[in-house]
Amino acid sequence: MNRRPALIFVRLLCLVWGFCTCERYVLDDKTGLGRVFDGVGGLSGGGATSRLLVNYAEPYRSQVLDYLFKPNFGASLHILKVEIGGDAQTTDGTEPSHMHYENDENFFRGYEWWLMKEAKKRNPNITLIGLPWAFPGWVGHGKNWPYDFPDITASYVVSWIIGAKQYHDLDINYVGIWNERNFDSKYIKLLRYTLDKSGLERVRIVASDNLWEPITWSLLQDQELSRAVDVIGAHYPGTTTVMAALKTQKKLWSSEDYSTFNDEVGGGCWARILNQNYINGLMTSTISWNLVASYYEKLPFGRDGLMTAEEPWSGNYVVESPIWITAHTTQFTQPGWTYLQTVGHLAHGGSYVALTDGKGNLTVVVETMTHDHSVCIRPPLPPYNLTSQSAVFQLKGSFASIGELQVWRSRFNFKTKKPTFFEQLTPLKLLDGTFNLSLGEDEVYTLTTITTGLKGSYAAPPPSARFPKVYKDDFNVANPHFSEAPNFADQTGVFEYYMNLTDPGPHVFTLRQVLTQRPVTWVADADQTISVIGDYKWDNLKVSCDVFMETVKTGGVYIAARVDKGGQSVRSARGVFYWVFADGTYKVTNDIAGQTVLAEGQSGTRAYGWHTLSLTVKGQYASGLLNGYPLWKDVVVIGPKNGWAAIGTHSFELAQFDNFAVAAE
Ligand SMILES: *[C@@H]1O[C@H](CO)[C@@H](O)[C@H](O)[C@H]1NC(C)=O
Ligand SMILES: *[C@@H]1O[C@H](CO)[C@@H](O)[C@H](O)[C@H]1NC(C)=O
Ligand SMILES: *[C@@H]1O[C@H](CO)[C@@H](O)[C@H](O)[C@H]1NC(C)=O
Ligand SMILES: *[C@@H]1O[C@H](CO)[C@@H](O)[C@H](O)[C@H]1NC(C)=O
Ligand SMILES: *[C@@H]1O[C@H](CO)[C@@H](O)[C@H](O)[C@H]1NC(C)=O
Repeated sequence: MNRRPALIFVRLLCLVWGFCTCERYVLDDKTGLGRVFDGVGGLSGGGATSRLLVNYAEPYRSQVLDYLFKPNFGASLHILKVEIGGDAQTTDGTEPSHMHYENDENFFRGYEWWLMKEAKKRNPNITLIGLPWAFPGWVGHGKNWPYDFPDITASYVVSWIIGAKQYHDLDINYVGIWNERNFDSKYIKLLRYTLDKSGLERVRIVASDNLWEPITWSLLQDQELSRAVDVIGAHYPGTTTVMAALKTQKKLWSSEDYSTFNDEVGGGCWARILNQNYINGLMTSTISWNLVASYYEKLPFGRDGLMTAEEPWSGNYVVESPIWITAHTTQFTQPGWTYLQTVGHLAHGGSYVALTDGKGNLTVVVETMTHDHSVCIRPPLPPYNLTSQSAVFQLKGSFASIGELQVWRSRFNFKTKKPTFFEQLTPLKLLDGTFNLSLGEDEVYTLTTITTGLKGSYAAPPPSARFPKVYKDDFNVANPHFSEAPNFADQTGVFEYYMNLTDPGPHVFTLRQVLTQRPVTWVADADQTISVIGDYKWDNLKVSCDVFMETVKTGGVYIAARVDKGGQSVRSARGVFYWVFADGTYKVTNDIAGQTVLAEGQSGTRAYGWHTLSLTVKGQYASGLLNGYPLWKDVVVIGPKNGWAAIGTHSFELAQFDNFAVAAE
């Protein structure tokens, strides 16, 4: 039977059987292949999105890592992209730089090194990418611009890649320019040159982690630039690209995408873009912002990760739908596989992609997400209508003789609210290389020759619980695993464990704010530093902390309650802020900027001496003690009604904190 009569026959049968929406799709490699697939990834950073994960107790922390990275278990990610910490606020907090100061180098700050090693432990083949969002102030010589001294910026970035290898045996595969900010062609060429000169020819450059333009235009104009750049990385491309990008013949990636609340609707968004970024835009990699929602949910973009792990104090985490949607692709493909040219849209809504390892294996992923249930937050995809449909797939070329395919299915079932994710069904037997699928709305299918798929699981983690009402930290950790104290989420400035061996005690181990200069920022960091902690719902509470200023005359530190904002809104954070200054005064303000003064006066506080501050807020009244004695009381606070506790400094200045304690009602 040649093709035409067969088609008529199938159409006829459809008609007779009432399958009026039955269509036929050919999957064939004879006509040539499509682009090489580079993998599906998650992004830790941009910023501090994995902050709370590191403080989970075992075995829960390892379980979360397994759901993310372990091959044939969960999301089984192919790519981990991390922020190269730049000391500044980059969405949900700051991440520390490996060089706070020009003559400083420390490759043990933060948690991205640890995360990369844990990912690599589970999947030795994982692709690693580093990208700066911000830079320490010295890189910009005081200007909010990293390109005036491109050689300094390039060697700063390359030193991070060298340190990754030297201290952690991590090979960084790709490096980016400046997240969602302007690029500079001269800088990109110098970065390439600096990498090559350092023996890092194998490290490839992604540019420019922003829109398709103007980088595409620059690549077409400038051959030297084009030689320096390997991948065009666009953010939130809405599944499409531009003609000029195709003309560059570069790899095209959606190097940041998703950014959607991770309930079922979020999983639907992810299912659509994983398929359609290739079908509509020929993008061969899609990276989720973010990897795991491990930051306080009331910070910007709460729960926009592939899964949720935002309660280290309880151990509770949630494996959300995007984990299993990821598995539909990642468990049955690898970077280096190739898309077939025969990919596309289904006649009645939805899409299909097919990939091969070139050795006879075939993986087909089909999604039928309806628009209402797969809205991506940024930008929304164009609407389309979808009906239940039958599809006949015909395998040709190298795949014609495949007799059986494994079948994995997810059903969002929005009507019944009983979704099922990543279920293995009975393998499909193929008849003359064809198989039929009866597709409902909001479903994802994988059909594959790969037999190693597995829906990994652990016993349910402990139940969710609110942040403990009574919480203390004396920072007495002689050999901390991480540079930052658990649960503190720095929003401007960097707060690190500090050890002063000349202290006679009791302040040998403290927490110290270490930035002395405003960084090259990514958003509007406050002019003060701040680290928040606790439960956003806290209203009535007592916060106390020992404080130590290290700036004579102009120094200042504070403790605060009911702090209502972080992230890129940190400059306008309000709350009850109790400040003491090295000039012997105190202040109570309603905001971090210090513009609404509720009380002020003399305190006798000075630099290079420890003072104990305590702040009690109850209903509309606040009172403060200094070294155990009342300093001010019954100050009226109207708003905000609730928020986090916090510590911080008056400017980018060194200062220490010890014996932090909070008690909420
Ligand atoms: C890593 O890649 C190599 C070569 O492609 C492959 O043989 C090996 O199985 C992969 N390892 C894992 C854990 O996926
Ligand atoms: C498919 O991949 C598996 C490894 O996952 C390999 O053993 C097999 O030879 C490949 N080819 C075919 C046709 O299945
Ligand atoms: C989808 O259906 C709506 C309502 O019937 C219609 O207005 C719209 O044009 C349809 N969209 C497409 C892309 O066909
Ligand atoms: C697929 O469906 C068509 C028409 O509905 C039918 O003729 C054919 O036998 C089916 N094939 C398989 C493999 O089930
Ligand atoms: C370290 O402790 C000594 C002794 O108390 C004190 O004089 C010095 O100022 C402290 N230095 C810092 C940086 O904390």
